[in-house]
Amino acid sequence: MIIAIDGPAGSGKSTIAKLLAQELKIEYIDSGAIYRTIALHGINSFPEGCQGREQEIAEQIRNDPGMIRISYENHTQVMWLNDEDVSKSIRHPKVTSQVKYIADYPACRELVNSKMRIIARDYPVVIDGRDIGTVVFPDSTHKFFLDAQPKIRAERRAGDLNIKPSGSDFEELIRQMEIRDKNDRERAIAPLKRAEDALYLDTSDMTVEEVIASILNHCHRLND
Ligand code: DC
Repeated sequence: MIIAIDGPAGSGKSTIAKLLAQELKIEYIDSGAIYRTIALHGINSFPEGCQGREQEIAEQIRNDPGMIRISYENHTQVMWLNDEDVSKSIRHPKVTSQVKYIADYPACRELVNSKMRIIARDYPVVIDGRDIGTVVFPDSTHKFFLDAQPKIRAERRAGDLNIKPSGSDFEELIRQMEIRDKNDRERAIAPLKRAEDALYLDTSDMTVEEVIASILNHCHRLND
């Protein structure tokens, strides 16, 4: 079984996907974290940035299949780069600013997609991302698209980053999220969009428990 959860940044998808995986005792694949690990490798190799180096970065990773690894601890995904646990460092703003170049590059997308397909071939999984229900697993029968009002999404992201939800840092966060949204939705390859057969959930006024309950109800209906 593949439960595909797509949506924009701050829609709650990673929180939900993680809890859902724990509830169902299956693995959670955070596809964004794999893109981020490739970007971190790119930054390590090319300190001036990933732009224009995407092909070399993809080739380095293709030529060294053990460079990026994924493991699981209690259904939580751990990302490894050259045998170092980078699950925290891939959240650094520098990685966030560079990952766009990786996500826009078809050969890098293929690397991420093939890693996910290998895991999903052997295990039931919950996967979150932008193109899971549309491109990576279009045949998955359990698809969800989470969304929320932009202000709420920004407030959630501010909470994750320990930023006060007002003032200049918050204004800058909103600006950065608008840029990322535009990039995700307008990407030439695999843009963020709702699969026609995905259940749409606006989580703006929903608690985490309510979102999980809606998803589980829908999964039970699909399984009946
Ligand atoms: O969800 P996130 O912020 O960790 O994602 C990191 C980047 O990867 C973000 O720019 C969107 C991109 N991404 C993507 O293009 N496709 C996915 N399936 C997941 C993430």
